Amino acid sequence: MTVCATASTTLPLPAEEPVVGNYFVAAYPPFSVWNPDDVSAFESALSEWSSTTPLGVYVHVPFCQKKCDYCYYLSYIGQKPEVVDRYIDSVVREMVLYAERPAVNGRPISFVYFGGGTPSTLTSSQVRRLGNGLRSALAWDAVEEVTFECAPRSVRRDFLETLFEIGVTRLSMGVQSFDNILLKLNGRIHLAEDVRRAYREIQQTGFDWVNLDLMVGLIGETRAQWRDSVRQMIELSPDSVTIYQTEIPYNTQLYSDLKTNRLPGAVASWAEKRERLSYAFGKLNGAGYTVVNAYAAVKDPARHRFRYQDYLWHGHDMLGLGVASFGYLGGVHYQNAATLESYESAVAEGFLPVKRAYRLSDYDQLVREFILQLKLGGLNPTDFRNKFGVDILEVFGTQLKTLAAARLLTYSASSVLLTNEGLLQVDRLLPLFYNAQYQEVRYT
Ligand SMILES: C[S@@+](CC[C@H](N)C(=O)[O-])C[C@H]1O[C@@H](n2cnc3c(N)ncnc32)[C@H](O)[C@@H]1O
Ligand code: SF4
Repeated sequence: MTVCATASTTLPLPAEEPVVGNYFVAAYPPFSVWNPDDVSAFESALSEWSSTTPLGVYVHVPFCQKKCDYCYYLSYIGQKPEVVDRYIDSVVREMVLYAERPAVNGRPISFVYFGGGTPSTLTSSQVRRLGNGLRSALAWDAVEEVTFECAPRSVRRDFLETLFEIGVTRLSMGVQSFDNILLKLNGRIHLAEDVRRAYREIQQTGFDWVNLDLMVGLIGETRAQWRDSVRQMIELSPDSVTIYQTEIPYNTQLYSDLKTNRLPGAVASWAEKRERLSYAFGKLNGAGYTVVNAYAAVKDPARHRFRYQDYLWHGHDMLGLGVASFGYLGGVHYQNAATLESYESAVAEGFLPVKRAYRLSDYDQLVREFILQLKLGGLNPTDFRNKFGVDILEVFGTQLKTLAAARLLTYSASSVLLTNEGLLQVDRLLPLFYNAQYQEVRYT
């Protein structure tokens, strides 16, 4: 592994985030450098039993009732039930294809994450078919966490019972705002009263953990509207609150509206979004919550584990099933075909529907884990020495010094810790640690 010597100078800080494009870093290296040539590296990783770490599974459910103006996730609207049924069968078939491979066969699954899109648009019988199909391909006996994403309008009591039956432990629902005018302005289908009804029914079902999402800086949001949403969220008192800073990715309605000067309201600056996020964290703290990473506050930290995030961000393997899903296995990132047709036809012919991949060098793997763990607020250099055999204080000496000088981070032999100011803008800072060849490339 090549290690840069500790330098005495500091670097310029990354520029303020652009108005458009992605802010949230979900993977490293950036998706734009993943390529078809590396799919063979993914195939090789699958033929080796390369790891004894837990294996997680992410399942993408690409269906929604309506497309929200800000949303960049792949999802289809108004699909007929038979289209959804066929998709479920493809996902199960994809799992069966993986279960035959040496790197997956017989390996215990640690977590399952049903994300979207909106998984709660499925019917009870579709969710049973999906859950039972996946289980029969690979046992869930060792599963520690099953997360299921919902949107308020599509939550029904009988459906929640089915989720509980198939083993869902963690329910996550997108609230985004409690202000009906703002919800409508941003193309959201639900109203605040839908959230309250859905939340009551979720509580009655008795899931182990309930998370609610908010988005700060929706188009047209005022400080007063944000403060009121934070107040109403605290009143509901979920186990955790996750707050995303609104981005305007290229493939969204908001982006086309921005280009044609038709945005229905003002875009908050990044500084303003950070200010509002900081306000929310302060209020959540005051209400007894603990901020556990750059996005979430939890009511009971002693009970809090979010395996999907913890395992993936600590370098464990995860299969990504479904259209456009991404996964990580044996040091190789990969992503599936991005249209329903191409995804389903590959699976129907008995091929894995992988369209692009990236084999990470040892150094890339170190950077990947370092930046993902920084999103958790801090990390321990000893863990990196034990795993990668290097001193990260040396490898990232210049970058750490730069962020420490700007009071965004502190570090010592036993910890690297973001300050509050650093935590609020962590995704913007991460490119500082990227390998030089990825510094200027687009994220997706
Ligand atoms: C797949 S959605 C959650 C489940 C469900 N589809 C819903 O919207 O209620 C995941 C989360 O991503 C966040 N999100 C989507 N688009 C975003 C954007 N442009 N900027 C910031 N966060 C975004 C939202 O908070 C949303 O709850
Ligand atoms: S935010 Fe959720 S409901 Fe809205 S389009 Fe995206 S995935 Fe669908």
